[in-house]
Amino acid sequence: MNFKITLLPGDGIGPEVVGEAVRVLETIAGKYKHSFDFQERLMGGCSIDKYGSSLTDETLADCVASDSVLLGAVGGPKWDDPNAKDRPERGLLALRKGLGVFANLRPVKVHPALVDGSPLKPEKLQGVDILVLRELTGGLYFGFPKGRDVKDGRERAVDTLEYYDYEIKRIMKLAFELAKGRKKKVTSVDKANVLESSRLWRQIATQVGKENPDVELEHVLVDTASMRLITGPAWMDVVVTENMFGDILTDEASVLAGSMGMLPSASLGESTVGLYEPIHGSAPDIAGKGIANPIGTILSTAMMLRHSLKLEAEAASIEKAVDAVITAGARTADIGGKLSTRQMADEIIKHIGE
Ligand code: IPM
Ligand code: MG
Repeated sequence: MNFKITLLPGDGIGPEVVGEAVRVLETIAGKYKHSFDFQERLMGGCSIDKYGSSLTDETLADCVASDSVLLGAVGGPKWDDPNAKDRPERGLLALRKGLGVFANLRPVKVHPALVDGSPLKPEKLQGVDILVLRELTGGLYFGFPKGRDVKDGRERAVDTLEYYDYEIKRIMKLAFELAKGRKKKVTSVDKANVLESSRLWRQIATQVGKENPDVELEHVLVDTASMRLITGPAWMDVVVTENMFGDILTDEASVLAGSMGMLPSASLGESTVGLYEPIHGSAPDIAGKGIANPIGTILSTAMMLRHSLKLEAEAASIEKAVDAVITAGARTADIGGKLSTRQMADEIIKHIGE
């Protein structure tokens, strides 16, 4: 089959890890007789430099018109001026909104061979297999009013945490659906003891829970959830939460896996065009050195094959290959080894289709 994939390598280590993920996809194409038509575009800081905008209308249109989008990372010190009128991160948010990808799936699994790389005690990591669903196109990131002004002679800044019922409902439904293919348990995370938006969140979670009696639903406050991720992560399975809480909790959860460099993500909406990206950032301190861990991006391509292109066997073969190389001791610097980005990808490619 033939698929059109837009590549947005972005900034920092983005181009290095996306480059290796593309080699993995080319290997899949060869072994399973598919053809991937890659088109590369600028997004983030590199796009500000070239076009004066972190995401141009043309690039967004190209993304919408493709089968799926693979993103590296955006941002860096060069574009960090708080007074700048555009920022690399704005491009990413506009892309998520423009693609309508409201559900960000961030799976966190701990490979047994990497247990020692986590700061948690090994016994706490037994059986950790969490799927965080982060709401991605609402909440504090997008609500209005937003901005700065001077009120009563004082400088003021405002962000708005806003959710509509339908925004909560659609991600909640997806959480229950995904839970049915797993341990049939949904943990809905909110701050219902303080926030009105969280009380609506909890109300809708309860409603959708009633429609799915075969799935156990629990409500956990976000502060408690952040503590339990460290004290007892194995009790969590599908975790569903609003945008900002999900941003924070997934960085915390990534520590369990030994390194952020290991973790993939998929952002899905009503359309089949998904956005796939590692959860790590642009890591400007190591950019250009060829030492970044490509696994988060490579596993993101596996999620792309599964969710957007419906190629389950191909997705599983990438995941198996990653599993095998980690078991065999292949390590980039972030997980205590010396392999370069390219060498790690080479190891994975050797195991594909075995
Ligand atoms: C993430 C990142 C982004 C976010 C930034 C880069 C805007 O932290 O994908 O988790 O906050 O969503
Ligand atoms: Mg984040």
